[in-house]
Formats: sequence, C-alpha cells, structure tokens
Amino acid sequence: MYRSHTCGELNASHINTEVTLAGWVQKSRDKGFMIWVDLRDRYGLTQLIFDEKRTDKTVFEQAKSLGREFVIQIKGKVIERESKNPNMPTGEIEILVSELTILNEAMVPPFTIEDETDGGEDLRMKYRYLDIRRNPVKNNLLFRHKVSMEVRKYLSDKGFCDIETPYLIKSTPEGARDFVVPSRMNEGQFYALPQSPQTFKQLLMVGGMDKYFQIVKCFRDEDLRADRQPEFTQIDCEMAFVEQEDILDMFEGLTRHLLKEIKGVEVAKFPRITYDYAMKTYGNDKPDIRFEMKFGELNTVAKHKDFGVFNTAELVVGIAAPGCASYTRKEIDALIDWVKRPQVGASGMVYVKCEADGTFKSSVDKFYDQDDLKKWAEATNAKAGDLILVLSGNADKTRTQLSALRMEVATRLGLRKSNEFAPLWVIDFPLLEWDEESGRYHAMHHPFTSPKPEDIKLIETEPGKVRANAYDMVLNGNEIGGGSIRIHDRELQSRMFDLLGFSKEEAQAQFGFLMNAFEFGAPPHGGLAFGLDRLVSILGGQETIRDFIAFPKNNSGRDVMIDAPAKIDEKQLDELHIKLK
Ligand code: AMO
Repeated sequence: MYRSHTCGELNASHINTEVTLAGWVQKSRDKGFMIWVDLRDRYGLTQLIFDEKRTDKTVFEQAKSLGREFVIQIKGKVIERESKNPNMPTGEIEILVSELTILNEAMVPPFTIEDETDGGEDLRMKYRYLDIRRNPVKNNLLFRHKVSMEVRKYLSDKGFCDIETPYLIKSTPEGARDFVVPSRMNEGQFYALPQSPQTFKQLLMVGGMDKYFQIVKCFRDEDLRADRQPEFTQIDCEMAFVEQEDILDMFEGLTRHLLKEIKGVEVAKFPRITYDYAMKTYGNDKPDIRFEMKFGELNTVAKHKDFGVFNTAELVVGIAAPGCASYTRKEIDALIDWVKRPQVGASGMVYVKCEADGTFKSSVDKFYDQDDLKKWAEATNAKAGDLILVLSGNADKTRTQLSALRMEVATRLGLRKSNEFAPLWVIDFPLLEWDEESGRYHAMHHPFTSPKPEDIKLIETEPGKVRANAYDMVLNGNEIGGGSIRIHDRELQSRMFDLLGFSKEEAQAQFGFLMNAFEFGAPPHGGLAFGLDRLVSILGGQETIRDFIAFPKNNSGRDVMIDAPAKIDEKQLDELHIKLK
C-alpha cells in the first residue's frame, strides 16, 4: 500500500494516527535541528516534520537531501501543529515522520510549481505536466471533469444514448478546412478528420436511435483565437421526431441544470432574440446581455443638419455608456484612439455628455442643438450621467465597430462579471450568407440545415432572405452551442446542394450516402452541439479555452511539448505514396 491517506484529508480528528503518505515535495525548510516539508498531491498539502530529537538519525539525514518535486513516501504519526494554519484543510496537524522512502528524484523544475508561478506561457506549455501540478491548471481540469460528468448524467437520464462515431471519415463541411490523413492502403486517397460528427448523428436518427449524444473531439484547420483550438470537444446531440421548440427546451434544461449544479445559479427562462434583432441591437450574433448599452439608431434624428459625416453615412448609431458623462477629455480621447485602431477601424467617434441637470454637451454642438441631442438620448436610452458614443458609416461595418466598442466599454466599467451568467437563444438565422470571395452563397450553419417552411418559396428567387430553423445558445457574449432542424427530404437536400453551387455529381460523390439514407425512411430530426471547452471555461469564469484543456496547442497550432506537427521519415512517406516537393 503506497498510502493510507491523501495529502488533503488529515485533520485534528486523526491526531495520534499512524499514516503513510506519498506525493511531491512542494518545498522544504531546514532550520538545522528541524526540517519541515510540504508534501503535495492532487488533494492538497500536508506538512511533514523531521525533528533531530524525535526522528531517527538516518531518516533525518535523508530528509536533508530532499529537493523540490522529489517523489517520496513517508510513514509517521499525525500530531497537533504548534502554529496552526486556518487557511489549509490540513492546517491543524503535521506528520512527525519516522520512515522516508525516496521514490524518485527530480531535477530542479524550470518554473516554480506554485499558484503564482514565474514561468512564462511557452515554458509552461513545454512542461505542461509540471504546469498541471499547479492548482490553477489542476483545478480547471477537475472542474471540466465535473461539468462533463453532469452533462453525461443529465443526458443519460433524459434517454440520450452515448454513441461513438468514427474519426477517419470524409469531409463534413462546417466552414473550416479539414485535417486530412493519407491512406496507406488506398494510394492517393485521404481520410478527413471530422469537423463534427454531423452526418453520422443524422444517420443514427435514420437508424432509429432516437436520442444520441457524444462528448467528442472535432478537428478544424482554422485560425486560432482565445476561444478556438484546432482540436476541441463538442457535446454533440441529436433527436428524432422533434421541432425546434423541443430542442430549445431540452438544451435550455441542460444548461440550466449545469448552472445550478456547478455554479449554484438559478436562471429564469432564456430570452430568445432573432438574428436580425441581435445584429441591429448589439451589432453581433452573440451578444453579451449581462449589461444594457443597446444600440440606438440615429439616422432619423442626426441626418437633418449640416454635419456631412453623418449625412453621407449609411448608418448613424450610438450607445449610452452608463455613468460616463464625467469622463475627462483624456479618457474620451483614449476611447476615440481605441475605435481608430486598425483592429476596430472606425474613422472617428462623436460623443454626447448627458449632464446631471438634463442638458447635453457634445463634440458636435456646432451642428446640433439641445432638442436634437435629447432625441439621441431617447434613441439610445441614455440617462443623466451617461455618455453617448456615436459611430457612423457603412451599416455592417459600423455595427461591428460599435459592438466592439460596447464590449470594450463594458470591460472598462467592470460590467463583464465572471460570476454572472446571462444565457440566451439567438434564433431565425439566415439559411445562407453571401461570400464575396467565391461570389456565391454559403450555408450559414451547414448545408443540412432546413429552411423555415414559410420561406422555402424564396429559395430560388431571394435566397438571401430565407431564414433557417437554426439557433445558437449564447452565454456572456460567447457562442457556446449551435444547431438546427435538419432537412430529411432527399429532394430538398438536393436543391440545397444546387443552391450552394455543388453540381449533381459533386453532391452525389460527397453526400450521396446521406441523400440515399433519406430514401429509406428518415425521420424528422434536429439537434445541436455545445462547445465543451467554451462552456467549461465560461462557467469557470474565464474565456481562454486553452486553460481548460490538458494538452492544448499554441497559437500556431503546435504542441510544443511533444513538438508536433513534425516531419516524418522517407520510408513512411513512401508507404503513404507521398512525394514532398
Ligand atoms: P458549430 O460549428 O456551431 O456546429 O459548432 C458547435 C460549437 O462548437 C464550438 N466550437 C469550437 N470550440 C473551440 N474551438 C473551435 N475551433 C470551435 N469551433 C466550434 C462552439 C460552437 O457553438 N454540427 C454542428 C452542430 C449541429 O448542427 O448540431 C456544429 O458543429 O461553441
């Protein structure tokens, strides 16, 4: 038996018990006649004491040689500590050691393994196994486990069946590039790793499995950001014989359950807003509604004077930053500089201070009188003490810029509180989006998404106006999940591929298996997938998903610990029939 207890569980009730512990040396303090060692394992820290007077001489000498991160096993007696530490669960006791075994020595670690470390990101990634010994990383992994266990429990109780789908497949279009795997046995042919199990889960519905889920790796070769990894995990779900309402109900239930069980937060019914409303009111389709600052469109109240910038703009739109009328010139200039950064790209910003006495002071007082500005305040819902920030220009671009400004102001004002949760559904997404580069329509969600029945008539004439039975779940400004009711009719699916620019042959070659399946009694079905990494990190109060993944990739898609991707040798290339240029 390596240990009788863990390093996190001993307390005053164990005094006088003989115990065996094993773990890592966090640190040791050698006072000459007395040595204290903090012993660490996943469960906590326990203080060991080696006392020249009470500890066997050889054991005492051995203790002097212990370095940081040595793996040791000790036997000893639990005794009451002289100076207790009320901040530690084991702070009332220490172990008077009688036997010490060094199980493994350790080199000096490249960074300190403590909550606050001196190691930079790169170094910690290279030695991720050491980083995992630190509480912040370890606790994130334990937290992720807790969330995924709750998910499994909830879905299984609701009758969902966990079914694995293959990783070596054919391209599933989710809008990113595929990672491909060459086939040794089929010269010149490649598997694609799934961007999601989309087609398989639909085939499981055709197979009659009725309710499917899987916590599954997905692979997408796309540019990385804080909330994106090339391989990430979905909670992937599908249900047969359902309408949109059934899906929203079910997965709102799951999210509510998680918020309650994991965070102790009860949330009311999720608000639902349409995609159009989201774009007009927040400038994006994943609004953070923990705070207000809704867009107020000012075209009708700002284009009647001689201010050329607004008169020539397609859209004039503003937000009211709460309590910011007291901003100094310097603070306002800082915001103006912020919107002018190339990442945001605004050419300027107009502001209006809503003074406490009900008057207004603006950067465009030359053009607008108090009555005009009062109307701006009404449109942006500004109160006395608020600062109205106004951008103008091309409608889409201006909305995107104001959306970025809204988030920035909220961050500066501390309104994006990580312990507050504001989930919502965004529904009625467009079925298609126009892609300038290729000069054609792309599926906004994916090509298997069904149009709203009442919009089908527009498919050939005004495809851009067709709305889909598609929905996203948004939490604190992040898209944590998305899905749709699927097409289950071969004819409609084939029209959809037409619309997306696939020739009959291409559609048959790529998706014939699915369209054929639709001819053998496909039930109406739909589903959704959550991004588990995103969900976990937001519940954990952070937005960088890397911190919740045991072995993540860096921003260049590399695993710097194992040094991948890497070259492979000639022989392997030959077997795979690959010639490098
Ligand atoms: P979608 O592409 O919207 O839908 O993906 C579902 C959710 O997965 C998360 N996600 C990611 N997380 C981390 N890194 C990435 N690179 C990444 N890409 C996506 C997001 C997103 O909401 N098959 C459909 C689902 C369906 O229709 O049922 C799909 O994959 O949180």
